[in-house]
Amino acid sequence: MAGSKEGLAYWGDKPVAVVTDPSWGDNGKGKVVDEAAQYVEMVARYNGGPNSGHTVKNERGKFVFHGVPSGILNPEVLCIISTGSVVNPISLGEEITELRKIGVEISASNLLISRDSHLIMPWHRMRDNLQETVRGGNKIGTTGQGIGPTYSDRALRTGFRVKDLLNPQFEEMFDKELLLQERLSRFIRGEPLISDLYIEELDGQNTQMIAEMVRLALQTKYYDHDAILEQIREAKDIIGPMVTYVLPVIWDYKDKGKKIVGEAGQGALLDLDSEAFPYVTSSHPTAAGFTMATGIQGKEIDAVIGVTKGYSTRVGKGPMPSELHDEIGEYIQTVGEEWGATTGRRRRVGWLDIPATRYGIKIGGIDTIALTKIDVLDELDKIGICVAYEVDGQRYNDMPSADPDFMSKAKPIVELLPGWRKKTSGIRAFEALPVETKQYVNRVQEYLGKPINIVSNGPEREAIIYS
Ligand code: GDP
Ligand code: IMO
Ligand code: MG
Repeated sequence: MAGSKEGLAYWGDKPVAVVTDPSWGDNGKGKVVDEAAQYVEMVARYNGGPNSGHTVKNERGKFVFHGVPSGILNPEVLCIISTGSVVNPISLGEEITELRKIGVEISASNLLISRDSHLIMPWHRMRDNLQETVRGGNKIGTTGQGIGPTYSDRALRTGFRVKDLLNPQFEEMFDKELLLQERLSRFIRGEPLISDLYIEELDGQNTQMIAEMVRLALQTKYYDHDAILEQIREAKDIIGPMVTYVLPVIWDYKDKGKKIVGEAGQGALLDLDSEAFPYVTSSHPTAAGFTMATGIQGKEIDAVIGVTKGYSTRVGKGPMPSELHDEIGEYIQTVGEEWGATTGRRRRVGWLDIPATRYGIKIGGIDTIALTKIDVLDELDKIGICVAYEVDGQRYNDMPSADPDFMSKAKPIVELLPGWRKKTSGIRAFEALPVETKQYVNRVQEYLGKPINIVSNGPEREAIIYS
C-alpha cells in the first residue's frame, strides 16, 4: 500500500535515521519503524533481543516482533539483525517459522543476521531467573530472556556467537559448554554455594528463596542435551542461510545513499551506561548503540527519532516519579492496553515525565519526537504533565542524574491541561485536531525542547499525523 505524501517527504529526507525511545521502552517503536519501512530500503535492529516486543498493526494484521526487525512486512526492505543484538536461535527460528506460516516471506533476500551477534542459550535464561531470585526484594524485574547473562558472557569474552552455529565442530563445542554449565548448576544443587555463601549472608531467613534457587537449578530443561541440540539443529536450518557479515552490506547501502533506519530495543533510560543502573538492560538503545553496532557514526546520522507516548509507562522495577496509583492511572492502563508485549506484565503508568524524558533525549542523542497514543487521553477531563521534580524540598526542572537514589526521592510537580473530550482517532491532519489537543502537543514540545514531527493516534499504520 502506498504511503502518504507527508510520510514520503519526511522519510525521503532522512537517508540514515534511528528510531529509539527516550525512556523505558514500549512507546511504539515498532509502529514507527513499520511506517518508515514503506519509504526506506533497510531496517537494522541494533541492540537487545527477545526482551523486546514491538507491535505492528497494518493491513496485513497485528504482529508482535521479538527478534525479527519491524520492517519485515515490507518485502522490499532488507532487514538486518546487527552485531549489538543478542540472538536466541531457538526463539528466533520459531518466530520466523510462525511468520512464514501466515504468509510473511522471510529469506536471505530480506533478512540478514550478523555472524558476530552473541547467542542466548537455555542456560542464560536459567541464570537470568536465578539471579533475579537471589536478588530477593531487589529484583530488577527482567524479562527473563537471558539478556544479562548473555551480554555478561560477551563481556567476559566467552559464549557462542551466531557464526559458531555454522562451524562443523559446533556440536562438540556445545557438548563441552553444556557440561560446564551443567557442572555449575550441580555446584548450586550440591549446595556448597547455597550453604556457604548465601545462608550465612542471608541470615537464614530466606529458605523460601533458596528453595526457589534449587528448584530453578534443578530444571533439567536448561541442560537436556538431546532436546536442546535438536532444537538448535532445527534453528540452524532456519537461520543459517541468513547468517553473514552484515557491516559491508550496511556500508554499501549507506554509500549508495539508500535509506536506512536503525531500530532500537528498549529505551535510553534502560541503557546499560545510563546512570539508572542497576534498573537497566544490558545493551545500548541510544543512538550511540546504533553507531557501535553499525559503524555509522553520529555525524552520519540524519535524524534520531525518539518515540514517546503522551504519558509514561514502565515495566519491571526501578523508580518512576510520575507513577499514578489512582483511578486515572488504572484508566490509562486499561484504555491504553498497557500490558508487556513480551512478558504480559502490567505496565506501570504515569503522567508524561518531562525531566526523565528530557534526560533520555540527551543521552539518547534524540533530535525529533514521535508522540504516540494521544487517543488514549481522549476522554480525560484534565491531562497532567510532570514538568519538574521536588527532591528534599528543592525543585528540579532537569534531573542531574538518573541515579535511582535520586529518582526514588523525586516527587512529581504536575501541570494540568484541559482535556479535549473528543475522539481523535481517525483525524489525519494536525490542524484538524481539537484545539486542546494541539495545545497539549505544543506544550509537550515546548517542555521537551525538540520538534514533535509525528503524532500517532491509534495502533494502526495509517493512524499517523506528520506535523
Ligand atoms: P515498542 O516496544 O516501542 O515497539 O512498543 P510496544 O509494541 O511494546 O507497545 C506499544 C503499544 O501501543 C502497542 O500495543 C501498539 O500497538 C500500541 N500503539 C502504538 N501507537 C499507538 C497509538 O498511537 N495509539 C494507540 N491506542 N496504540 C498505539
Ligand atoms: P521494547 O524493545 C520495556 C526492561 C525489563 C527490566 C529491564 C531489564 O519492547 O521497548 P532485561 O530482560 O532486558 O534484562 O530487563 O528492562 N525491559 C523492557 N521494558 N520494553 C522493552 O523492550 C524492554 N526490554 C527490557 O522490564 O525492567
Ligand atoms: Mg515493547
